[in-house]
Amino acid sequence: MDFLSNFVLLLLVPSLLVLKAVSEASFDESDNLMIRQVESHVDDFLNAERHFEKFKARFQKTYATPEEHDYRFNVFKANLRRAKRHQLLDPSAVHGVTQFSDLTPAEFRRDYLGLNPLRFPADAQQAPILPTDNLPTDFDWRENGAVTPVKNQGNCGSCWSFSTIGALEGAHFLATGNLESLSEQQLVDCDRECDPEEYDACDDGCNGGLMNNAFEYILKTGGVEREKDYPYTGRDRSPCKFNESKIVASVSNFSVVSIDEDQIAANLVKNGPLAVGINAVFMQTYTAGVSCPFLCSGELDHGVLLVGYGSAGYSPIRFKEKPYWILKNSWSKYWGEHGYYRICRGQNMCGVDSMVSSVVAAIQTTSQ
Ligand SMILES: *[C@@H]1O[C@H](CO)[C@@H](O)[C@H](O)[C@H]1NC(C)=O
Ligand SMILES: *[C@@H]1O[C@H](CO)[C@@H](O)[C@H](O)[C@H]1NC(C)=O
Repeated sequence: MDFLSNFVLLLLVPSLLVLKAVSEASFDESDNLMIRQVESHVDDFLNAERHFEKFKARFQKTYATPEEHDYRFNVFKANLRRAKRHQLLDPSAVHGVTQFSDLTPAEFRRDYLGLNPLRFPADAQQAPILPTDNLPTDFDWRENGAVTPVKNQGNCGSCWSFSTIGALEGAHFLATGNLESLSEQQLVDCDRECDPEEYDACDDGCNGGLMNNAFEYILKTGGVEREKDYPYTGRDRSPCKFNESKIVASVSNFSVVSIDEDQIAANLVKNGPLAVGINAVFMQTYTAGVSCPFLCSGELDHGVLLVGYGSAGYSPIRFKEKPYWILKNSWSKYWGEHGYYRICRGQNMCGVDSMVSSVVAAIQTTSQ
């Protein structure tokens, strides 16, 4: 106490005039600061409102009641703040408004992900080790005909079926030379395959599934129909309408690729697009760039399709350029980079290297 009062005295004594000048100056400063803060709150609010109007128009969002509208506006504002935080944590990507900006993180996880369960495949066959010395520095299956246009899983946790079907579409193209869009709904309706080691880990339509279970289902059932013969509805628990005589693509073999990134690249180049699991926490706000967050959980909750890789990413704010993986997502071409996500390579970012499966298609005589 003594020390403090001496200190205050020492500060106060020298000159009242100077002190007065200083305090007035600082009052002015803090007044201005307060006004600026109030203004910026108003600004933020107007900005948020403007962003929300644009968001509703762009994604054709309507809300049943004014209460729902106000609630969604509040969620939207929280997501704008979240996008800002993601931007700081992930400076080589661009985070902002997406079609999921009016959903809480829990709603987003419940309705748009669906990799189930969150564990690694127990007993799938290991892919053989491939040579890696002559891998191209950049590679993209989209430029080589093995990738169908981006699809949309809608409000259904069926990502696992899109990841599975994407890999089979690529493998079928490699085996036959034909790129056929294949049926995810067949898996959603008909595949109840379980992990042989985990009796509770079964594919379950819009409630999640696992790509390796789905490959096993396709292997056992004989194949899948075309998208146009068994179209996607995103509806859960519809009766299975699979018709064996409409099979157009089949699985010959599938295997689990080791976590080694060169092996992943070699399997991608040799066998076509790969089914991969990922943690999707940064994907709710991602709009572009190479996602390389300082911190990302390796807990897998989303299934996507690895279609290519690049040696260095364009970074919108000139952050260090990074090698990346190119992932096809199933949230329509209006999400991310025309439906795609780029994530940095070299560090198992968000678990992207930890559950990778490769499929080989059987050569099927396609009846038109
Ligand atoms: C399936 O793949 C594994 C590893 O890639 C291989 O050892 C096995 O012979 C393959 N089986 C068939 C039927 O092709
Ligand atoms: C299955 O498909 C075949 C060929 O398109 C058709 O002739 C048959 O009626 C279908 N069966 C059922 C049960 O729909």
